Amino acid sequence: RWTEVPLAPPDAIFKLTAAFKADTYPNKVNLGVGAYRDDNDKPWVLPVVKKATDILVKDPALDHEYLPITGLPEFTSAAARLIFGSDSPVIAEERVTSVQTISGTGANHLGALFLSRFYGWNDKRVYVSDPTWVNHHQIFPLAGIPVSTYPYYDPQTIGLAFGPFLETLKNAAPRSVFLLHACAHNPTGVDPTREQWGQIADVLLEKGHFAFFDCAYQGFASGDLDNDAWAVREFVRRNVPLLVCQSFAKNAGLYGERVGALHVVSPSKEAAVRIKSQLSVLARSEISNPPAHGARLVSLILNNSELFEEWKRDIRTMAGRIIDMRKELHRLLTEELKTPGNWDHIVNQIGMFSFTGISPAQSQALVEKAHIYLTANGRISMAGLNSHNIRYFAESLDKAVRG
Ligand code: LMR
Repeated sequence: RWTEVPLAPPDAIFKLTAAFKADTYPNKVNLGVGAYRDDNDKPWVLPVVKKATDILVKDPALDHEYLPITGLPEFTSAAARLIFGSDSPVIAEERVTSVQTISGTGANHLGALFLSRFYGWNDKRVYVSDPTWVNHHQIFPLAGIPVSTYPYYDPQTIGLAFGPFLETLKNAAPRSVFLLHACAHNPTGVDPTREQWGQIADVLLEKGHFAFFDCAYQGFASGDLDNDAWAVREFVRRNVPLLVCQSFAKNAGLYGERVGALHVVSPSKEAAVRIKSQLSVLARSEISNPPAHGARLVSLILNNSELFEEWKRDIRTMAGRIIDMRKELHRLLTEELKTPGNWDHIVNQIGMFSFTGISPAQSQALVEKAHIYLTANGRISMAGLNSHNIRYFAESLDKAVRG
């Protein structure tokens, strides 16, 4: 029995966490998984989350009943206001369908499943950036949607391959689906400029394409929630057909609680109602009802102005520390170590990750020789760097680059 089940490879990101944990080297560094750490390399429970937890557990009315199938209504409505803006016409016109999901992964999955069944495809595939978050390559095929890639990263400039990206948008069959990272692109940390987003929107509109936004880092990129929602809001303003997958794993530090939402924008209120009925059927068969705890916490934070302001401060703390680490790494490489090559991308990229531009062999050398864990594509989680280990990392990187 089960002899025909082949052994699957371990997950490219989580295998690094396991290897890091098993490593007994005292100076080991984990730059693999995108999870925020404080300056002492400890997970950080946001002070605002501690406060919200306190309020929640003291609530005498707290129970463990089922949530509605589509989630906690005061969470999903506040989550929609967070991404689209509280004054967004699509919210006022009730044209957004919002469903609570198992974090961003669940939102991607539910969105994929919904499109797989109901999208008017000419060419059933989703275009994802090359490269993208590794899990995108698994989520869509699981929902019956083949994956193609569009050029995104230019290794020559360690920046955006904007021309080839735009060409692919232009040449794709009309009404194609393009997955776009709303901000803080994972894994490259390279985002289009506002002007480039405008040109992307132009082509999407011309060709009738659909924007499948994955938004896992609102607030993390710049430290400002509104700023990081700019592309989504601009596309909504210009009536680009779209949906948004939203995660609170990173910006609220609620990784294991799986808090997220899927928001589908429709041309009419009536379409939004029909879409909700179908998403409800899909959610019911897969998860029945979403988990309550994390959604209650986020709902408290989003719906209470004092907690909301505190959350914004916590986000600035996280984004600020990451930006400081970028500056310090850049300084060490360019000024102190005079590492060969141009390292400006370290400070130009934004968000949780930096794409160092080093080769798979150099990445491998860092893992094997220096006990520094990073993905083979040269991505590092900036949140794994701190004032204690950054010099060790810079020196190890310098050695790897010099060979
Ligand atoms: C990452 O890319 O490291 C994070 O998004 C964590 C994950 O689920 O892969």
